Amino acid sequence: MFKHLISASQFTSEKQLVNLFDAADQIINPHNQNYDLRRAKNLVMATWFDEPSTRTRLSFESAMLRVGGSVINITDKHSSSFAKGETWEDTIKTISNIADIIVIRTAKEGEAERAAAVSSVPIINAGDGGGEHPTQSILDLYTIYKHFGSCNGLSIGLVGDLKHNRSIHSILKLLNLHQNITYHILHPSALGLNPKEFLQRGDIPVRIHKSMDELVDVGPDVIYMTRIQSERHKISTAQGQLPEYNYNPKLHYLNMKQVERLPGTSLVMHPLPRGQEIAVEVDQDHRASYWRQVKNGVNIRMALINSMLFDVCE
Ligand code: CP
Repeated sequence: MFKHLISASQFTSEKQLVNLFDAADQIINPHNQNYDLRRAKNLVMATWFDEPSTRTRLSFESAMLRVGGSVINITDKHSSSFAKGETWEDTIKTISNIADIIVIRTAKEGEAERAAAVSSVPIINAGDGGGEHPTQSILDLYTIYKHFGSCNGLSIGLVGDLKHNRSIHSILKLLNLHQNITYHILHPSALGLNPKEFLQRGDIPVRIHKSMDELVDVGPDVIYMTRIQSERHKISTAQGQLPEYNYNPKLHYLNMKQVERLPGTSLVMHPLPRGQEIAVEVDQDHRASYWRQVKNGVNIRMALINSMLFDVCE
């Protein structure tokens, strides 16, 4: 496994992912006598979150506690010595002499990478601005694998603020390791991405849709919904890049009637938090997978922590 996890692009083969998924399956198997579930006892995780989080921070902290370790955290950087002018690099050097592994969420792209450059202990990127969210994409693919057995050959709908959503940026990098995927894209104008640029391959079928009805009618295996990332738009608007994005609830919203038209085997996914893009009644449908994604996230993070601390995946 890697010393640090900064980008999903560090995974270079499907096998690396599958090894991690196998480790996650083993770690939660109560009959597995070969796994020391308390292996991280006496080790400490520091979580540094200077952007809001419910799932990622608690999931990492829960995962560390479940593998026997302890957790310390900073959730308001203004209560740290950052407020006294300490640099990011000195902050990380300090924390890496206190904790054994550091999980970081920052508002600025690239700060996790800068942290990794100076840290003596593993750094995990838990979201850097509009950059990447690699552990979200790993748990997303784990959820798909548990349902379909693979990502190869699937048709995948990506909906919402594809431009700013860091989970989308990371998941495309992991899906890129697979074969024969067809993409169905739906986004408000000005919130798209160039899928070919992200996929780095010109031969992958990508169909752009005009409405949710049109996308639903192709019967995709997965619809991955995302929230409009309004917190990033202020930055883009300030830079004069995003005057208007034309979000239309009628076109970009998934309702129960549409979900009922999907194949029975489809997955409706979302990294959460939900904005207004999925009707709450969809939660009751067996295709709704977003709460399962949250649960899978703890298992994946337990396996990831173990592998980064002890290299159990190799
Ligand atoms: N999916 C995700 O990153 O959720 P949080 O922002 O609540 O951590």
